[in-house]
Amino acid sequence: MTDALVIDTPDDQKTPAWWRQAAVYQIYPRSFADSNGDGLGDIPGILSRVDYLAELGIDAVWLSPFYPSALADGGYDVADYRNVDPRLGTLEDFDAMVAALHARGIRVVVDIVPNHTSDLHAWFQEALAAGRGSVARDRYIFREGTGPDGSEPPTDWVSVFGGSAWERVEDGQWYFHNFAVEQPDLNWDHPEVRADFLETLRFWSDRGVDGFRIDVAHMLTKDLSEPLPSRAELDAMPQDGRHPLIDRDDVHEIYAEWRRVFNEYDPPRTAVAEAWVSTPERRAKYASADGLGQAFNFDLLVADFDAAQFRSIISENLAQSQLSGSSTTWVLSNHDVTRHATRYGLPALNGRPVKQGTEWVEAGGPEEMLDREGGLRRANAATLLLLGLPGSAYLYQGEELGLHEVAEIAPEQRQDPGFFRGSEFDRLGRDGCRVPLPWTADGASFGFGSAVSHLPQPGWFAQYAADVEASDPASTLSFYRRALALRHELQTGETLEWIETGRADVLRFVRPNGWQVVTNFGTEPFALDGGDVVLSSGADAAASAPGETTVWIAPAA
Ligand code: NOJ
Repeated sequence: MTDALVIDTPDDQKTPAWWRQAAVYQIYPRSFADSNGDGLGDIPGILSRVDYLAELGIDAVWLSPFYPSALADGGYDVADYRNVDPRLGTLEDFDAMVAALHARGIRVVVDIVPNHTSDLHAWFQEALAAGRGSVARDRYIFREGTGPDGSEPPTDWVSVFGGSAWERVEDGQWYFHNFAVEQPDLNWDHPEVRADFLETLRFWSDRGVDGFRIDVAHMLTKDLSEPLPSRAELDAMPQDGRHPLIDRDDVHEIYAEWRRVFNEYDPPRTAVAEAWVSTPERRAKYASADGLGQAFNFDLLVADFDAAQFRSIISENLAQSQLSGSSTTWVLSNHDVTRHATRYGLPALNGRPVKQGTEWVEAGGPEEMLDREGGLRRANAATLLLLGLPGSAYLYQGEELGLHEVAEIAPEQRQDPGFFRGSEFDRLGRDGCRVPLPWTADGASFGFGSAVSHLPQPGWFAQYAADVEASDPASTLSFYRRALALRHELQTGETLEWIETGRADVLRFVRPNGWQVVTNFGTEPFALDGGDVVLSSGADAAASAPGETTVWIAPAA
């Protein structure tokens, strides 16, 4: 029995577009490769690894911010949107990197951070100097405080990283920051703010950038008319397009304007929204063809390694992509979450920090709870399933090496503002997935490039080094290379058809090219019939798919 999913792609989107089923590799530049030995990865470092990226077989890279920044939030505090952080290189270095990637057929996506600037941005410095009531302050969100002398914040709102969402400045006014204190939110009602981002989009598009990843795309517009609601009132409001702070319908006016700019280029520039919104229907608005065009779907990233959860997420998202006409996206790891090998290595918790009694049990540790091998086996099975799906696959640097989260970072070496402000979302913070990559098993900082990397690398990185894995056909890197090379054959259509397996813990589907993907989430082998196994995420499979393994099967020749 089959349960067919028919994706009805609108006519105007039928032309093959490179991004619709692309494998996009996320580079966190400061932790990728360091060319000048200062401990920070940089743009020439990326240039030096273009061969590695080409051999990996990805279609595009997405670069997290490389702009001038004080690194209060890993570069998501941007001081100048149209430049390269001098510690990471120059605009000429950037151009050389784009040219080298393009020469290998790899597209380039850059990160745009429009909700907030750095407090070091010229606009914010001007706002501080200009004082209350000034035009310069109107580019941000300044308010008077409450209490008899205004020394209490305007509201009891809490920032994403913990603590008050308001910060007081010298003359007594307060400014709003959804994220770190050093990330003041912009006022998107201000025409100069709107105009300036259009200039930024043109600036990078003119330099040959192919697309943009839009940071917290759902938070830009706000309704801050008085009286402001309390935190409890805010939390109780539905996120239906009219919430004062989140996922407001009026944000799409901005993206319609951006789309007109993207379409001035040939081919049109692409964009993908980072939008943590309440329903797939709301997500579809960001992905529409007259908006950003695509939106991240984080559903698998928060799911357990579980057949039923995977199946319903896949079916729902493929069906929902009809709403926007876009292709869906799949993500298991990125720079904000515990690496999926580790999440799946703590099966009971799935890597999420939970309170046991009065103690927090953290993602990534303690070591005795982590099943390193099992976690990686399940991670590779999930990755091969993801790579077999219609839509775009977003991969995060280091997952191709099978890296685990680094739990053993001393508090004084940590950088994530969420760690220091006691974020309830992630108690250990996000540094553990941002540790510089191991390129070689020996040498200073495992070949990252400097004696001391900006986050400490653990000794166990040696066994995951790229040079070791490149020469081992059984390594995770070799597996990713084979999967990405074969994946192009699956991209003949954006559909799949489920095939019932008679087992609750085994998923099986067929793609338009006739290839089947079988994932055994359980531990008992699943007998295979017909076809040739072209790839297995685990031990060689022929007659059966072993437990916790995905196989791709091609029709028998
Ligand atoms: C989402 C980014 O992915 C995250 O790293 C950052 O901290 C916040 N947005 C704020 O820019």
